[in-house]
Parts: sequence; structure tokens; C-alpha cells
Amino acid sequence: TYIIAEPCVDILDKACIEECPVDCIYEGDRMLYIHPDECVDCGACEPVCPVEAIFYEDDTPEEWADYIAANVDFFDALGSPGGAAKVGKTSHDAPFVAALPQKAE
Ligand code: F3S
Ligand code: F3S
Repeated sequence: TYIIAEPCVDILDKACIEECPVDCIYEGDRMLYIHPDECVDCGACEPVCPVEAIFYEDDTPEEWADYIAANVDFFDALGSPGGAAKVGKTSHDAPFVAALPQKAE
């Protein structure tokens, strides 16, 4: 699967959503998360993110390794909805993401 890491926090550009053929990129409060079971590894989202927040999981930089679990755990509450559009924006985040200091505007 692909994952979204720290650069997305408080940016939420959402260019990635437009590219995903299976609509598996879901919106948290402070960042977006890729569903590990719904993602078909097409890779279309990775190059369009303006802040380079998206990685194939094995290529995730060490400093952001926690985001691999964050993208999985985010779906503990959601399950596998089979499409992000109908879910819309959610108000939750991985706990360590929610606790990050707000990025300066
Ligand atoms: Fe975030 Fe980049 Fe998508 S900032 S919302 S991962 S385009
Ligand atoms: Fe979608 Fe990106 Fe996976 S475009 S299918 S989330 S690699």
C-alpha cells in the first residue's frame, strides 16, 4: 500500500484525491489517510502531492515510519467503507497526529 506522512498535516492539498481510481484516500481532521486494503498500489497519487507526503510504504523515510501504522489504525473506526466520497471529512486523526503542534500559516 501507499501511505501519507507528516508533510500532509495541516496542508490537506487533496490533489491526491482526484487521482485515485478507487477513491481510497480518506480525510481526517488534520491530514488524509490511504486505506491499506482498498489501495490498489496504482501510484497515481504519489507524484501529484505538492509537498511530497505520499510514499510506497517500504520507501517511507525512517523519521515518518509511525505514519505507516497511522494510515492503518485510522481505519479501526471506519472499517472499509469502499469509497471516501461518501464518508466525507472526518473529525479524527491518529492520536500522535492530533497532538502535533499546529503548523504556522
Ligand atoms: Fe495531503 Fe498531499 Fe494529498 S498534502 S491531501 S497527501 S495531495
Ligand atoms: Fe489510490 Fe494512490 Fe493507492 S492513487 S490506489 S491511494 S497508490
